[in-house]
Amino acid sequence: MDVLLLGASGRIGNRIADELLDRGHRVTGVSRSGALELDDPDLVAISGDATDSDDIAKLATGHDAVASALGPSDDKSPEILTEMMESAIEGLRRASVDRLVWTGGAGGLHVGPETRLIESEEFPDEWEPVARAAIDAFEILSDADDLEWTYLAPAAMIEPGERTGEYRTAAGELVADEEGDSYITMEDFAIAFADELEEANAVHTYLGTGY
Ligand SMILES: NC(=O)c1ccc[n+]([C@@H]2O[C@H](COP(=O)([O-])OP(=O)(O)OC[C@H]3O[C@@H](n4cnc5c(N)ncnc54)[C@H](OP(=O)(O)O)[C@@H]3O)[C@@H](O)[C@H]2O)c1
Repeated sequence: MDVLLLGASGRIGNRIADELLDRGHRVTGVSRSGALELDDPDLVAISGDATDSDDIAKLATGHDAVASALGPSDDKSPEILTEMMESAIEGLRRASVDRLVWTGGAGGLHVGPETRLIESEEFPDEWEPVARAAIDAFEILSDADDLEWTYLAPAAMIEPGERTGEYRTAAGELVADEEGDSYITMEDFAIAFADELEEANAVHTYLGTGY
């Protein structure tokens, strides 16, 4: 598959690029800097601005799918995530690419029938702005019925770690283990992401991941 990966230089994006390349896909990796640590004959690193739908339309043309691991950088407010989502949707439409898998946030996943993670008492105040922006971005995506989108959220905690190959998913719900901990390594999240990109089992779904 030819995949345009937005945010390929980021912490999660870098692992998704690695996983896709290991599986034999060709990856065009986009970030503003255009620099990538990975070196692979099937990887092209390119500079682009994900808030610019012209850039996305040009870059996405000729790809089978667009993947995102975009995040707000330290110099930007979290609300930029909604601008990125709007440009991505517009760019995909103009490039006639209909598959989009987006690395989202866990804040909008349910932890109970009436409660999302962001509304739970344990949710840290300092994470609220980015979680809120990620939910706003999801709401924009959920109206894009013409695209085959999946909004794939990490567990509540995601860190660099081991690639175990184990993970579970749940539609609309936070995935937690028997002790109630919601966790996934970036390496296993990248596996879940690549599986969803290849298999499209959760189209039009806000999908949680974890152990
Ligand atoms: N538990 C959770 O819910 C959870 C936890 C962690 C992360 N996340 C989400 O996962 C996503 C990725 O996180 P991360 O930690 O991997 O992020 P990160 O390391 O900050 O990477 C962000 C990537 O986006 C790129 N980028 C930023 N602005 C851009 C623009 N205007 N145009 C093109 N590229 C741009 C960055 O490259 P340049 O700066 O070079 O452009 C970088 O490649 C984020 O949306 C984050 O909110 C969720």
